[in-house]
Amino acid sequence: MALTDFDLVLFGGSGDLSMRKLLPAMYARDVANDLPQTARIICVGRNDIAQEEFLQTVESTAKPHVKKLVEEGWAKFVKRIVYVSLNATDASTYGALVEALRNDDKITRVYYLATPPHLFAQICDNLASAGLATANSRVVLEKPLGRDLESAKQINAEVGKVFAESQIYRIDHYLGKETVQNLLALRFGNILFEPLWRREWISDVQITIAEKIGVGNRMGYYDTSGALRDMLQNHLLQLLCIVAMEPPTSIAPDAVRDAKLQVLRSLKRFTPTTLAQNIVRGQYRAGHVDGKAVPSYRDEPDAPQQSRTETFVAIKAEIDTWRWAGVPFYLRTGKRMADGLAEIVVRFKQIPHSIFNQPTSSFQPNSLVIRLQPDEGLSLNLMAKTPGDSMRLKQAELELDFREQFKTPRMDAYERLLLDVLRGQLTLFMRGDELEAAWEWVEPILDHWDQEDSVPIPYSAGTWGPAAASALIGRDGLQWREEA
Ligand code: BG6
Repeated sequence: MALTDFDLVLFGGSGDLSMRKLLPAMYARDVANDLPQTARIICVGRNDIAQEEFLQTVESTAKPHVKKLVEEGWAKFVKRIVYVSLNATDASTYGALVEALRNDDKITRVYYLATPPHLFAQICDNLASAGLATANSRVVLEKPLGRDLESAKQINAEVGKVFAESQIYRIDHYLGKETVQNLLALRFGNILFEPLWRREWISDVQITIAEKIGVGNRMGYYDTSGALRDMLQNHLLQLLCIVAMEPPTSIAPDAVRDAKLQVLRSLKRFTPTTLAQNIVRGQYRAGHVDGKAVPSYRDEPDAPQQSRTETFVAIKAEIDTWRWAGVPFYLRTGKRMADGLAEIVVRFKQIPHSIFNQPTSSFQPNSLVIRLQPDEGLSLNLMAKTPGDSMRLKQAELELDFREQFKTPRMDAYERLLLDVLRGQLTLFMRGDELEAAWEWVEPILDHWDQEDSVPIPYSAGTWGPAAASALIGRDGLQWREEA
């Protein structure tokens, strides 16, 4: 679908996200000829600098993040960028933005708030009082979308005073990843899996997002956040929703979002006792990642020496529905882990009886592994006969590599999500009630950690996290896939 002309306004326009992700993503769509001729990108920043100076920053900071750079295309792209200096919290400075925007109802306006969340309400208010919150406007909210239920509710309420829900795009960039959408295709574009996709046939599900990187230069943000808020409340729960939701009636935004909401609301609530049994939090200590020595979290630049912030969390979750009752969903994420990967493992039940001359226990239960990162693909583990005279069965893999299978160029998550915003397509964005439901489930964990006088369990950088995380799943007679 061709895009209508637009003015895309990036608040936080000179910030890290704009330079690393948003401008490179828009460039990629520009060279792919997706952007209308006259569409513009208005970068808003506090610094009172001239357009030329800002473009030099774009050249030195955003350009290095562009994949497949074509100089001619880049020169054309840069012409779309307009720099506007204003103080986001000062309504009297918004005149500069009024002047920069084209006053035409047919031009879509998108305000992308790549700013800390405490500024969202004020920016929306200021846009409204400058007459900029029009019917053809959309607003994009970048994470973190609050730090607990109350702040999330406040964001929803304040932004909701200015924009209708249908104008609000809450980003979770995991939903823009190719394989996450492929999971929808797998579940609802095939007849094979859906009849088996339930407690009668599935024994457990593992969802892992492991990173080799540490906190880098984001300590100021990260130490007040931690793995639960930074990754689990959003990315992991969104993946869980797509895996576990009932079939939506269509791919329409509210059909999908209603189905996801139902999962979030059916997550079994933790009590103080179940919390202690089902959650492991860790913090990395010095170690080696890829053979390179890396410091302890507490020795990273600007880290508080006594920090109790978790860089790892593992949770055994359950969904109280007819489909999923009793099926454990093991969720795990961490920084400075042994490997960088994101994957979902769906393990099926053991065969009921062996007709072969080998015991049932020698049969590996079937499993489906959905890989999001670093490569994108699927593998289905089956039992097959080993070649030769005797009837011996062994595990074999059916492998689907998306890059091999489909040679078409891929899109980065931000490219896809930005295109969806510009098209007015809300399916891959969280609705306000989903956001609140996710925080509602997570909040007792945060409260418990706050009250409890304990620290996260140390783990060496370059490992799979604290041994307690292996024990968590080991108690159920299982292992994390990488440790099996
Ligand atoms: C972000 C988190 O949302 O996701 C980061 O704030 C994390 O801490 C990142 O590194 C991971 O995203 P990806 O796409 O690199 O897996």
